Amino acid sequence: MTTLLCIVCTNIDCASRGSPAILEEVKAKLAAAGSPVDVKSYLCFGACQDGPNMVLYPEGTWYMGVKQGDVDDIVGHILGGERVTRLTEKVDPGLRDLILEILEAGMIDL
Ligand code: FES
Repeated sequence: MTTLLCIVCTNIDCASRGSPAILEEVKAKLAAAGSPVDVKSYLCFGACQDGPNMVLYPEGTWYMGVKQGDVDDIVGHILGGERVTRLTEKVDPGLRDLILEILEAGMIDL
């Protein structure tokens, strides 16, 4: 089984809206829960206007417009709870599938 990856974009635009702190908080909370899920930074998913963005790979969830107040719910999902649907409702499925295909092809160096 492939270990789940949680990938957070941290280029200038999403970083200015707090993505590095979100990444660190998710990482710390998963580690505290003993989760093997790896949390990685990625430069940019090409959807900065909707960011900060987070992709769970290979599971396939794309969370957009993530705020620090969403972290507990996202961690809950990663640990086996419900998907946080308020953060997935506006996701463009075409763009999400493209990003997942790029990840699948190993074209993103994580
Ligand atoms: S930095 Fe988040 S999508 Fe570009």
